[in-house]
Amino acid sequence: MTVKIAPSILSADIMNLERDVRAADKAGADVFHIDLMDGNFVPNMSFSPAIIAGMRRVTDKPLDIHMMIENPDAYIKTVIDAGASTVLIHAESTQHIYRSIELVKKYGAKAGVVVNPGTPLETVKELFPIIDRILVMTVNPGFGGQTFIPGMTKKIQRLDQLRQTAADDNFDIEVDGGINSETIAQCAKAGADIFVAGSYLFNGQDGLESRIDGLRSVALEAKQ
Ligand code: DX5
Ligand code: ZN
Repeated sequence: MTVKIAPSILSADIMNLERDVRAADKAGADVFHIDLMDGNFVPNMSFSPAIIAGMRRVTDKPLDIHMMIENPDAYIKTVIDAGASTVLIHAESTQHIYRSIELVKKYGAKAGVVVNPGTPLETVKELFPIIDRILVMTVNPGFGGQTFIPGMTKKIQRLDQLRQTAADDNFDIEVDGGINSETIAQCAKAGADIFVAGSYLFNGQDGLESRIDGLRSVALEAKQ
């Protein structure tokens, strides 16, 4: 049974990013989630690929790159050379998602496809045999601190069922957006394995370690 907690550094203190990353690393983060946004694919801008090499200098944990950009193919090699472990590409951001996934694998990283709340799972079904991860967006992408969309729990459940019916489809299910101690239980029960959390982890008063531990134990319990 997989449960991984992935702090999203979008909600870290940008002026103290190194401090926050080291703290999250020490507090038990399994993997770091890095949002790249271009102001076109989503109505916000965030980190650019340069952040990845910087992150690589301060943590040995895997780095998951969430590409919220148009023309993602043009940046796949750059982010992998910089140290990306997994590259997550939106199905809606490219006309040829199959090719994008193949490119990620060719350059030696793990590949994941991301589906927006309004994108049906059927859109990415043909990718099941070649991907390592499906990231189900549980908010509309672009901003931290939004509210979890309740209907996404059913979508995760359906994805988990589809995964179980095909023995050779071996991917993890990840969720991103509005994850806290309540929504993580619903997602874990529905079949999610990897849980991105930004504002809940970095804006909490009780410290990163207790929040990461807390999320992990709720998820593990929900999966029993
Ligand atoms: C939103 C980003 C998320 C964001 C999540 O588009 O993809 O990774 O940081 O933030 P929270 O956990 O605050 O919803
Ligand atoms: Zn993200």
